[in-house]
Amino acid sequence: MDAELERILPSDDEYPPSIHKAMRYSVFAGGKRLRPTLCLEAGRLFAGDEKALLRVGSALELIHTYSLIHDDLPALDNDDLRRGKPTSHVVFGEATAILAGDALLTLAFETIAGAGNGTPDQTVRVIHELAHAIGTIRGMVGGQVADMETTDTTGDVARLEYIHSAKTGAFMRAALRSGALLSAANKDDLARITTYGDKIGLAFQIADDLLDVTGTEAEVGKTIGKDQQQHKATYPALHGVEASKRIAAQLADEACEALAHYGERAEILQGIALYIVGRRQ
Ligand code: IPE
Ligand code: IPE
Ligand code: MG
Ligand code: MG
Ligand code: MG
Repeated sequence: MDAELERILPSDDEYPPSIHKAMRYSVFAGGKRLRPTLCLEAGRLFAGDEKALLRVGSALELIHTYSLIHDDLPALDNDDLRRGKPTSHVVFGEATAILAGDALLTLAFETIAGAGNGTPDQTVRVIHELAHAIGTIRGMVGGQVADMETTDTTGDVARLEYIHSAKTGAFMRAALRSGALLSAANKDDLARITTYGDKIGLAFQIADDLLDVTGTEAEVGKTIGKDQQQHKATYPALHGVEASKRIAAQLADEACEALAHYGERAEILQGIALYIVGRRQ
């Protein structure tokens, strides 16, 4: 995946170098590459073309990295540590960080629309799927807005589920569905992948909330304790740590169950569901 990202990203001596340096800095700062992996594994389950999946998967990492750069900005979460390194705006200044995010998002769609990523029909479906998932209607930006505007840490359960499913879950589900759309998945396959994605997407953000309380800076590469400090609506704040762990584990089980139909072929995706709730980074 990193080799593919290397091929996609302009080198940092390309003019104007400041923006390319900033784009590369955040993409290659580390990161679990989870969304590309979800795309790749969903596609592999239905015999998708490996090259197209790698390329589209890499584009997903560009979108994800854009979302992190913007999420960390002073106007949003105001974080100075990401992937174990100073955040983009700390290193390059706020204006360049904003533009680096914009540029990564745009480059992602340029990459997906490029030749060789499935049939034209598949490409259009993937672009539509992703654009919707990171937009305002139950998508990432909508979730980020609700997150930003919710200042009551113990807000209601439905709103919290909306925030988490929208800001994080929608894009993960779309990563999986994109892989499936680029392969031979049929309607029933897509429905199973969608259910799996809904479950792990929510579980992932619950685990992220938990790590903000129970993790260490060395493990997660982010400043710990920020959610409470900024009065964020989180699962641990609303349900407590133990209940949040139970809810996340239950969601992971349900995600595995959604793919039971595929027997051993689904083992990797089922393993990812369990990893998501057990992770320490
Ligand atoms: C962090 O995502 C942002 C959330 C949606 C919680 P990851 O935990 O996948 O971040 P990286 O890519 O590994 O840095
Ligand atoms: C961010 O959620 C989700 C995004 C869309 C980037 P958080 O604000 O909890 O993510 P972290 O903890 O900063 O990675
Ligand atoms: Mg945030
Ligand atoms: Mg944040
Ligand atoms: Mg968080």
